[in-house]
Amino acid sequence: MKPLDTPQIETLIGRMTLTEKLGQLTMMAASHTVTGPTITGHSTGDIRSGRIGNLLNLIGAGPAREMQRIAVEESRLGVPLLIGLDVIHGHRTLFPAPLAEVALFDPEAWARTAREAAREAAADGINMTFAPMLDVSREPRWGRTVEGPGESPWVGRHLAEAKVRGFQGADLAAADSVAAVAKHYCAYGAVTAGREYASVDVSDRTLREIHEPAFEAAIGAGVVAVMPAFTDLAGIPMTAHAGMLRGRLRRELGFEGVLVSDYNAIAELIQHGVAADLIEAATLALKAGVDIDMVSGAYLQGLPVALERGLVSQSEIDESVYRVLALKARLGLFEDPYRRGATAENVTAVTERRRLSREVAARSMVLLSNRDEALPLFGGLRRLALIGPLADAPGEMRGPWWCAAQPEEQISVLAGMRAALPRSQIFHASGVDIGGDDESGIGAALQLCDNAEAVVLCLGEAATMSGEAASRAHPGLPGRQRRLAEAVLQRAADRTIPVIAVLFCGRPLIVPWLAERASALLVAWFPGCEAGHALADILTGSTSPSGRTPITWPRAVGQIPLYFAERSSGRPGPGPFSSRYIDESSSPLFPFGHGLTYGRCSMSDLRVTPQAADASTTVEVRVDVENQGARKAEETVFLFTRRLKSRVAPPVLELHGVGKIILEPGARDTLVMHLPVAELRSLGPDLEPGLEPGAVDILVGPSADRASLLSARLEVLAKQPS
Ligand code: BGC
Repeated sequence: MKPLDTPQIETLIGRMTLTEKLGQLTMMAASHTVTGPTITGHSTGDIRSGRIGNLLNLIGAGPAREMQRIAVEESRLGVPLLIGLDVIHGHRTLFPAPLAEVALFDPEAWARTAREAAREAAADGINMTFAPMLDVSREPRWGRTVEGPGESPWVGRHLAEAKVRGFQGADLAAADSVAAVAKHYCAYGAVTAGREYASVDVSDRTLREIHEPAFEAAIGAGVVAVMPAFTDLAGIPMTAHAGMLRGRLRRELGFEGVLVSDYNAIAELIQHGVAADLIEAATLALKAGVDIDMVSGAYLQGLPVALERGLVSQSEIDESVYRVLALKARLGLFEDPYRRGATAENVTAVTERRRLSREVAARSMVLLSNRDEALPLFGGLRRLALIGPLADAPGEMRGPWWCAAQPEEQISVLAGMRAALPRSQIFHASGVDIGGDDESGIGAALQLCDNAEAVVLCLGEAATMSGEAASRAHPGLPGRQRRLAEAVLQRAADRTIPVIAVLFCGRPLIVPWLAERASALLVAWFPGCEAGHALADILTGSTSPSGRTPITWPRAVGQIPLYFAERSSGRPGPGPFSSRYIDESSSPLFPFGHGLTYGRCSMSDLRVTPQAADASTTVEVRVDVENQGARKAEETVFLFTRRLKSRVAPPVLELHGVGKIILEPGARDTLVMHLPVAELRSLGPDLEPGLEPGAVDILVGPSADRASLLSARLEVLAKQPS
């Protein structure tokens, strides 16, 4: 069959009964994975009867094909199914968790992992992924920080573009492409006090400047679906927010694709307190522009009554059905519903994908501190103690949203280190559990220190402690891990052996005491299936660390939210009556962008040309980078700006570019970055974008630590009338 064009879609809609239409607007969960409180009791009979037109959480090419067959061959109109899954950081082959991958600051790598994830998912018959997650988060308490771009809207934009490109490929109808769903629109990352699902109340300015740009970029990149957030925005649940969905997203930002609700979110409008029953809930969501009801059944149950009562119109329903069918047509599902999942992947593709996962995982790890060059480990190391509850925990390496990845296919730290150091003796003890309060294993762990030349201490969170429904009021080390770590640090100090602390986590952990005492501190995040090998690559020095933290690490929970792009107060300090705490520093433990390499890179001689330019110009920013260390390194260079004066108080730093340079020991080179002056546009008091003439500092350096930045002045000129 050929792809459907507009008149054919309209004809098809004309042939549909109301139930068949509502089936197209309904997505139900198969029982393979369940992500919310609702487990649906529907059956394949509902697909046959046209009551269910889309599925999620179905894993395996066989089951996917069978469901598709029932829809296409046994339902009256033969409309194929959307089959969606949260392919967030891989499907069977897991890449590092999204926040970890963001630490690469490498859009091409972001796109490649999405492409590979799409291939693998599509080979399992999946045609839609609920990704990318684009919620900017400055909130380490919020578990879903792990799923997104971190704190910077600039990063969010670039991540959105790369991920949409990767998932959807060059041709959405291709057998290895899937529909991307940009989520969760909007400002979910700003939940009150970092508490999952809690209310969001941000200004229109914050919405536009911080939370929306990534969605705009996703739309610009052609994303075909968007998911509204579970949360309310200043009292209006996003699932019912006509102003934001129909008004802002569709009319102003030009989004023409499908809006798919979050899991059970339409029915939850009742708990939000804006709907009395499913009829009202369904009415609100449809009126707001939500096309697909994910699992709540509100559309199926509520819309027929709403239609009867005149609360919604037939054309509003048809409009949504049209969008869903148009997406199915674009996915090539009418042409060949079995295209995805038709051929099993060959072994080489899978091996190559694991190789990519290892490379990306190693590059995602961030070396936060490295006293006396404790890392890399000494080459002739004979006895190593591997201590901690994450040292032999393959399943935890996956992090949240592991799709079809099996625990036994993940490489633990222990396995990775044994493979990398076959001639060394590697002793292992977990000491304590990840959570829980049993300390009885600490003694055995300490004994290992007595016989070792170095300790690698593997600490952190379980995979389920980050992600959805995983907010933490105490985002430090869970359970008795601090007790274990302190005992090990003490014993190692007595024996004068180094302790390399490795953190597995989906958020910045509040661990100033560990940063102070460990010989080296490395955050491995959740590295995915090649975790142990990737970590061994870093620890042994076969790969120099190059990851940079995409989110600020606070010293104390009381500092949250802490981020580089804050606005200056009228009293920035120093002094007693300045913006500060009387009981804690206001500086972060580690700033945004921080991360060491095994080289020793320094920057000098920042040049900006021309020094005065208008919106039509792209400024060239050059900086010399030198590696004075003894090892090759990939250095990451951040380009920030600071507008000196503006009608709206400007942030003290705004990110406008990231460059990378690889340098051999002793080498020096010039990195060239480009800054289109038009990108310095900001929102005026009326929220309209504009470029204000005046002085802008161009600040370039290795992180957002202002003391580390080189500075040059650019004069932004009013545009010359042509
Ligand atoms: C999450 C979404 C996810 C959906 C489907 C929800 O609980 O908020 O991000 O896509 O479940 O699994």
